Amino acid sequence: MRTRPLKVALLGCGVVGSEVARIMTTHAEDLAARIGAPVELAGVAVRRPGRVREGIAPELVTTDAAALAARGDIDVAVEVIGGIEPARVLITTAFEHGASVVTANKALLAEDGSALHEAAEKHGVDLYYEASVAAAIPLVRPLRESLAGDKVNRVLGIVNGTTNFILDRMESTGAGYTEALDEATALGYAEADPTADVEGFDAAAKAAILAGIAFHTRVRLDDVHREGLTEVSAADIASARRMGCTVKLLAICERAADGRSVTARVHPAMIPLSHPLASVREAYNAVFVEAEAAGRLMFYGPGAGGAPTASAVVGDLVAACRNRLNGSTGPGESAYAQLPVSPMGEVVTRYHISLDVADKPGVLAQCATVFAEHGVSIDTVRQQGKDSPEDGASLVVVTHRAPDAALSATVEALRGLDTVRGVASIMRVEGE
Ligand code: HSE
Repeated sequence: MRTRPLKVALLGCGVVGSEVARIMTTHAEDLAARIGAPVELAGVAVRRPGRVREGIAPELVTTDAAALAARGDIDVAVEVIGGIEPARVLITTAFEHGASVVTANKALLAEDGSALHEAAEKHGVDLYYEASVAAAIPLVRPLRESLAGDKVNRVLGIVNGTTNFILDRMESTGAGYTEALDEATALGYAEADPTADVEGFDAAAKAAILAGIAFHTRVRLDDVHREGLTEVSAADIASARRMGCTVKLLAICERAADGRSVTARVHPAMIPLSHPLASVREAYNAVFVEAEAAGRLMFYGPGAGGAPTASAVVGDLVAACRNRLNGSTGPGESAYAQLPVSPMGEVVTRYHISLDVADKPGVLAQCATVFAEHGVSIDTVRQQGKDSPEDGASLVVVTHRAPDAALSATVEALRGLDTVRGVASIMRVEGE
């Protein structure tokens, strides 16, 4: 074993960074044996220097992250600050000064992954980011390496723990969205500002990363259709239950049937209770990968939290250190396929539509005509009258698969009918 240690700069020492430091310290001997050289924490960049950080020598702590990234003797910089800046400039600085980078930064990778890959390649160093998607669950490496010989057609999963916790509570207690969010906040599952999670930005960034790797194509956050879960009501959950379904916030990346384009989207959807994703409870994540030769693979586990995220970070650190010793680099960006990313309107899916309608002759036929005019085939219809005919009726329609644009146009046309008093809920149906 080499005795001269590999030097690691830790950029950020919050929930994840402090766990990375802890694992590096407590498992130092094992890590050295696995890598073939000791690994030394050479500096830790923090925002608040006064805080006591257990296990980290005070002389390693600095507030000058830029100087640490530019030191020139760093083998691997671990970026766990998050967000776009200063993370982007720090990573670029580390590359320019010869360091490989391990990051958990999904937002940056989804916005600028290609530029980061290019910079890493230019400087002959590594960029690893397993922790950016679903924390401890191995997804990036299986897609990049284990499935490199296969053809992935679909990636479908729950990649945000906060929203899964909220939906799980709505499902199990009958609570509304706000009540469930309050509980998630009180238990520490939701951030003080939950926007990135509940509006689907976090999941969309992960979808962009997964789609890019799965389809060997550049996919950015802006390419991902995104709908959060703020509009999901207790009534939607109850409707789903009546259909033998539950509601999940799904990230879905698909290759078109003709193989010439791909799509990536995040939105709430009904899935049958019999689908394995329906039993993913609380803040857990789970992802299905469907590949031509491998078939259906499911990855499941904790998708957030300091220790699970640090597990993935340190795994990448080991890989980057091994490469460093061998004088090699791991796989770079694979975007050779350059498939176009189609808009949501071209996605073929199913809708569950719940309408409040007048309860009088011809209404059902009138609504059915609107579906037919838009080329949308109806799978099932369920009508339930209210206490008196003047109160109208509830009409629940589930469609067969159709382009999303046709389904949206159908709903718009239904809204325009005098006999349709309101559209109570619209939700896509997936996983069948
Ligand atoms: N906030 C994310 C979640 C974890 O709730 O899953 C970090 O991506």
